[in-house]
Amino acid sequence: MKVVSTIAEFKEARRRIAGSVGFVPTMGYLHEGHLFLARQAKAENDVSVVSIFVNPTQFGPKEDFARYPRDPERDLALLEKERTDLVLMPPVEGMYPPGISTWVDVEGVTKRLEGAARPGHFRGVATVVAKLFNIVEPTRAYFGQKDAQQVVVIQKMVTDLNMNLEVMVVPTQREPDGLAMSSRNVYLNPEERQAAVVLWKSMNLAQGLWQKGERDAEKIRNEMVALIKKEPLAHIDYVSIADPLTLDELSQIKGSALISMAVYVGKTRLIDNMTLGN
Ligand code: PAJ
Repeated sequence: MKVVSTIAEFKEARRRIAGSVGFVPTMGYLHEGHLFLARQAKAENDVSVVSIFVNPTQFGPKEDFARYPRDPERDLALLEKERTDLVLMPPVEGMYPPGISTWVDVEGVTKRLEGAARPGHFRGVATVVAKLFNIVEPTRAYFGQKDAQQVVVIQKMVTDLNMNLEVMVVPTQREPDGLAMSSRNVYLNPEERQAAVVLWKSMNLAQGLWQKGERDAEKIRNEMVALIKKEPLAHIDYVSIADPLTLDELSQIKGSALISMAVYVGKTRLIDNMTLGN
């Protein structure tokens, strides 16, 4: 496994690769969810590349950039076990040298859900991912369904800007009790960790109602909200039932629907989602 921190050095290594490249962009503090993506990238390509970069431009001024968990040594040991070929770990000045003034702004889908709750978030995500794609030149790039809206935004960017790569989407990896794996789960104390399972429970409730034939989105949403409100440590930011492609809120579920939510458990903001139908 080769670890590089400068973009010039990475490009030099990239020039020597002839076969397909599978790429997994991450912000580090790796867990089974990230490793699942890395494994997939390794299995489906000649060479696998993982980037570790806590991207400052996707955090709002009041968000957790400074305290976002970091443990590069542990991350590298985990990637070594996955037999990852190349790791890119650039410093902030490497990705954002002084004077940088170009941004990638995907319109429409970024205004909803996470985009509405976190203004500027997806501009930071799209910009850093576009930069990483230009540096890594992947054949396939791997993203988790955990961040459903991020997948929609990246797919739109790749299509709109004619980027020459395939976006691969990997299912959400969960703890045994259903909590979606996330680097931010370390913020939870033991009581909050137990309370956090309410996100998964509320989605299962929704799925159960849908399977029994309920198609009134507002009814399903109300039941989910009522369940989450029973958990005193949980505070809803949003619960949405939307079209999986446009992310428009639905009143009636006709085809498939994306259930997604952001819920504070204590001070930690957790997101999760599930698709109904296909
Ligand atoms: P990060 O939160 O580190 O996630 C990196 C990738 O791992 C994303 O594609 C995310 O969806 C995926 N992932 C996280 N938890 C997962 C889980 N439980 N199951 C499956 N996949 C999971 O997402 C980002 O970083 C950043 O926005 C990034 C794309 C790197 C741009 O900075």
